[in-house]
Amino acid sequence: MKIGVFDSGVGGLTVLSELRRLYPSVDLIYLGDTARVPYGNRSKETIVRYSLECASFFAKLGIELLVVACNSASACALDDLRRALSIPVFGVIEPGVKMALELAKEGPIGVIGTRATISSGVYRRLLQSAGKEVFEKSCPLFVPLVEEGLFNGPIAKAVVEMYLSDLKQSKIKAIILACTHYPLLKSAIQDFLGLEVSIVDSALATALDIKEFIKPEGSSNLELFFTDIPAHLERIVSTILQRPVEIKRALCDGRS
Ligand code: DGL
Repeated sequence: MKIGVFDSGVGGLTVLSELRRLYPSVDLIYLGDTARVPYGNRSKETIVRYSLECASFFAKLGIELLVVACNSASACALDDLRRALSIPVFGVIEPGVKMALELAKEGPIGVIGTRATISSGVYRRLLQSAGKEVFEKSCPLFVPLVEEGLFNGPIAKAVVEMYLSDLKQSKIKAIILACTHYPLLKSAIQDFLGLEVSIVDSALATALDIKEFIKPEGSSNLELFFTDIPAHLERIVSTILQRPVEIKRALCDGRS
């Protein structure tokens, strides 16, 4: 089985890693739109257009399922993608919400994500309709930190503290990492919030969510495409995937 996975950059590799770990015998094709990252500060129309172009990249590659490994694209473009494609399309939002509701039966839930994701209001609506009090915060500097490979250390710590101080006061029981880049900052976030706050990693939740659609037949092939390949990209991708990688170029209008 061949699965396509796309994100605005390297963040979706957190979802890809969980997919590889849980389903070792499927073929995975990843597209990171590094020429146009970040998506999270852009308008809904632009995110929809970029997402449809990324989806069209997969058209000739014979994928049977698409994972939108980007919260900003899931929040803004999931319906358009589902209308445009004739294969199942999964986003990262509902799995994260489901996992948060299981982990925080009592008490408020925090949500952190990009500006596009937070202002879409999608997490707030889903959590409030389940009777939850919600505290949200957009954390735009987290994405460049991750794209720079600054997962921990004094700069990551200072930025985490700057964004999450208010949430820490609000007695949240769980926090949803509503951006696929953020699991790479998980230890900095956990250190700051303390162990009493459960961290919901939507990468794992998403990989678990597609379980019943997986046909474990394939040769475990992994292909990694990016729309721009700056000099530091290979190092960051191999750090995230914890293995040497070969990366290939895809054109940014979605053609391979
Ligand atoms: N990985 C994207 C997400 O989950 C965020 C990065 C971006 O802003 O492009 O929203």
